[in-house]
Amino acid sequence: MAKIKVALVGVGNCASAFVQGLQYYSNCNEKEKSIGLRHLYLGGFHPRDIQIVAAFDVDGRKVGKDLSEAIFAPPNDVPKIVEVPPLDVTVLKGPVLDGVGEYTRNVVQMSSQPQTDVADALKEKDAEIVVNLLPSGALKASQWYAEQALAANCAFVNVTPNFIASDLEWAKRFEYAELPLVGDDLIDQVGATTLHKTLLKLLSTHGVRITQTYQLDVGGGTESLHTLERAKELKRAVKTKTVEIALPYKAEVVAGSTDYVDFLENRRDSYFWIRGIYFCNTPMQIDLKLSTIDAPNAGSVLFDVIRAVKIALNRKLKGAILPICAYAFKHPPKLVSLDAAEEMFANFIKGNA
Ligand SMILES: NC(=O)c1ccc[n+]([C@@H]2O[C@H](COP(=O)([O-])OP(=O)(O)OC[C@H]3O[C@@H](n4cnc5c(N)ncnc54)[C@H](O)[C@@H]3O)[C@@H](O)[C@H]2O)c1
Repeated sequence: MAKIKVALVGVGNCASAFVQGLQYYSNCNEKEKSIGLRHLYLGGFHPRDIQIVAAFDVDGRKVGKDLSEAIFAPPNDVPKIVEVPPLDVTVLKGPVLDGVGEYTRNVVQMSSQPQTDVADALKEKDAEIVVNLLPSGALKASQWYAEQALAANCAFVNVTPNFIASDLEWAKRFEYAELPLVGDDLIDQVGATTLHKTLLKLLSTHGVRITQTYQLDVGGGTESLHTLERAKELKRAVKTKTVEIALPYKAEVVAGSTDYVDFLENRRDSYFWIRGIYFCNTPMQIDLKLSTIDAPNAGSVLFDVIRAVKIALNRKLKGAILPICAYAFKHPPKLVSLDAAEEMFANFIKGNA
């Protein structure tokens, strides 16, 4: 099976967990042993078919290093799960644009190395898929890298909540360039959004009338600082909208990130509160807490997304690819229910969509 050649934009916590995951699952050949993965094989592709060919960052502790080292450089604080052998991918410097905010100015140490011509580097390395792992709030930088992907004839995966795939103009540009585009804002494997939606669906299916519910979380890691400064409102709007559609009726729903707690490092605590009524107007209430580590929560979904985008490339599909967007992202071009998204994705992989 030909390799899927991927370029990473941003070598932060998410990139670290992803690269460690590629190593962790590289020799796993049996489904029963692939604990933590949704699909060991997807469309015939194994995670080891994903090859990182280029990586870009701005932090001096990462730029110029082999990717296998850069993923463990501070301020990354996701736990080290495996040793990653040298990957022969040197992290290159991109332009900073709005990649660093007020709150993270002292967290990121700007590299003094010269800026790379990103589109040229993508072409030289034969990259076919660019994965955007920039911080939330870095809209200009995300758009700039989407331009580089277009210039280098690459598909674009927007993991961030900076809108690209759900923006009609960008979708048209990728369609015109005959390239796939997917996003925006990846859904975690066992994240607060999925759990919240699943709980609401379960309760409403069982005849409970939910009246009010919220889900708020606190996290450490640089991304939580970015969210606090620049994307709190945006995240709240995106999460609330996607949670609301889990209910077949209107209720008071609030879902969003709340705050940054430095000593949590890459951990995240999510709090759920649900109030409703069931048989004969009897009140019920749920109080829950979910504790996770943030970055590994993106790994399995990202494996699926990259393999699905490769399938889209092989089928010469272009523009925003709805079955992938709906399955794996909180803010796709069109929101559908969890069940419909699963079905669309399964049909897409089988070649029926
Ligand atoms: N479970 C998850 O981790 C998850 C889920 C959904 C979405 N996301 C999104 O993924 C993105 C990455 O998350 P993270 O935790 O890895 O963030 P992070 O802050 O750890 O990493 C961001 C990286 O981007 C680099 N960077 C900043 N500006 C840059 C530029 N202009 N060019 C190149 N590199 C630049 C930083 O130096 C850093 O290494 C965020 O937008 C987050 O919202 C993550």
